[in-house]
Amino acid sequence: MLEAMPSVYVTRQIPNAGLNLLRDCTQMKVWEGELPPSREVLLEELKSVDGVLSLLTDKIDAEIMDAAPRLRAISNYAIGYDNIDVQAASERGIMVCHTPGVLTDTTADFAFTLLASVARRVVEAANYVRRGQWKTWAPMLCLGYDLHGATLGLIGLGRIGSEVAKRARGFEMRVLYHDLDRQPRLEQELGLIYTDLETLLKESDLISLHTPLTAETHHLIGAEQFAMMKNTAVLVNTSRGQVVDQQALYQALVSGEIAGAGLDVTDPEPIDPDDPLLGLDSCVVVPHIASASVAARTMMAIMAAENLVAALQGRMPRNPVNPEVLDIKGRR
Ligand code: DGY
Repeated sequence: MLEAMPSVYVTRQIPNAGLNLLRDCTQMKVWEGELPPSREVLLEELKSVDGVLSLLTDKIDAEIMDAAPRLRAISNYAIGYDNIDVQAASERGIMVCHTPGVLTDTTADFAFTLLASVARRVVEAANYVRRGQWKTWAPMLCLGYDLHGATLGLIGLGRIGSEVAKRARGFEMRVLYHDLDRQPRLEQELGLIYTDLETLLKESDLISLHTPLTAETHHLIGAEQFAMMKNTAVLVNTSRGQVVDQQALYQALVSGEIAGAGLDVTDPEPIDPDDPLLGLDSCVVVPHIASASVAARTMMAIMAAENLVAALQGRMPRNPVNPEVLDIKGRR
């Protein structure tokens, strides 16, 4: 007898390459809305499915899992998975997967783009032209800070952080990094210097955040840390909004404690349109698009779909977050 295909719920339209894969191997339903499905919708839709392909905008916690008695796999369309209660999933034997690797270069490119945009005041200058304020070439107009030869401080030296470090070599930067673990091989290969957080904050001209959001990294950068930075420093965040205390950031910018900031991620998302940060020329805020290239998002879709299918077929997916779930099941 033919086995029924597993049923899956996809919480948003993702690139077709991923949807086509799921269509071939599962009974799939896709949330068609432009905004994420509400919690009520998730509770209802997950009641009867074997797997879910979720986005970072979907909070998948114990309550959702308990309302989904058949759920065996959660495949997140993101490298970060702070939207999922992984411990609760493991306790319920639910496999969680994510999409590392395929967005690394794209995100590193974007972190660099933001560093350059803020340090060289690109958005402010473009708005100046758009407003018809450009009257002549002027010696003091929109003076920014050089990238070449600058000291770059990387907080977090995982996949993305180390790709940013590679890009920094082309700009002949001195690169400091801080992480829980030292990486002697990368230090050697890329000429990186390991420092404690305080030294990094004090010595860096440019600071880029590449840490996951955990209880330890929540508000890792706040008033105390801004006070240690150079008045000419530029901070860029492409990790998670909650890593930075945004009120403290606003104070640091208006008081001139630091020179500028580039935020791909905010807390909350979307940022309130009335947030005072949006009124500052020294702050560039974009809508969480660091991985938004056609190629990266397509590869994320394929990877998330493949992970989901593998987990539902009882195989080890390529990118499990809690592989022990399958090990435990396999041993039973
Ligand atoms: C991720 O994958 O976690 C990014 O924040 C979005 O691509």
